Amino acid sequence: MADLKKVIAEYPEEYCLLLEEAYGAGMMSEGGHEAVEAMFQHTDLPGKKALDIGFGLGGVALYLAERYQTQVTGVEVNPWLVEEAARRCPQSLKGLVHFTAYQQPALLPCEDDFFDVVYSKGVLTHLDDKLPLFKEIHRVLKPGGELVIDDWLSPVKGQWGAGLQQMCDMENLTLFAETEDSYHDLFATAGFSEIQMRDENKNYARYNQKIVDSLSRLEDKPGFDQRFGENALQETIDSYQMIADSIIDNELLIRWFRSTV
Ligand SMILES: C[S@@+](CC[C@H](N)C(=O)[O-])C[C@H]1O[C@@H](n2cnc3c(N)ncnc32)[C@H](O)[C@@H]1O
Repeated sequence: MADLKKVIAEYPEEYCLLLEEAYGAGMMSEGGHEAVEAMFQHTDLPGKKALDIGFGLGGVALYLAERYQTQVTGVEVNPWLVEEAARRCPQSLKGLVHFTAYQQPALLPCEDDFFDVVYSKGVLTHLDDKLPLFKEIHRVLKPGGELVIDDWLSPVKGQWGAGLQQMCDMENLTLFAETEDSYHDLFATAGFSEIQMRDENKNYARYNQKIVDSLSRLEDKPGFDQRFGENALQETIDSYQMIADSIIDNELLIRWFRSTV
């Protein structure tokens, strides 16, 4: 419970809206629709039942529902985000998308063998002990169902590089460093097979550099600082530059995983 309170406190309303300003409407992670399409490149989505773990402002779920008529259930630990994402859901998608809060990542509020797809984008690095959640995901997936993840990894288990650690300190974020091997073990121990992994560093370096460039060209600089606080614009630019540099230096490894039950 202590960890959950911490992660909720690390995403106050103003910070969520600041992330959206950088990442685009409804998004709290990089890459917009391009990254979402890449994530689900091999996934059959039309009409399927999907579970979004850590939906944030709901951008990915709403995109999949609108584009592929996917029925998306979202679970979040942050009650403000649940309310805000539900408020933003257009009437036309209300029958397809359902956003809900949950308090224990080790216990998904879902039936056994229910979902065709479980996915999570930029979330699981917030979770120290991921194995109980992976086991739960395995439980709620139908036989043949798949788990698709984009996440932040490190070359060293439990340790970030200096640049990324500085970014976490600046942004007041607690992130837990898994490696490719430890992530692979999580999938295997939870019972998943055919584990695929793809290096997304090139794309994510480009997404982050694009954010730096567009914020640097922003015309209403005083308006940004007025909304998000003194020096917010420069600090945000510095922070995204640190992420882009960490990716280019391979201190931060952005990895895509896909696996089936
Ligand atoms: C970087 S944001 C990404 C949000 C969204 N997936 C997106 O791509 O826009 C991380 C989100 O993960 C949520 N989160 C952190 N730990 C979580 C957990 N154990 N279960 C569900 N959500 C979690 C946070 O509340 C936050 O909204």
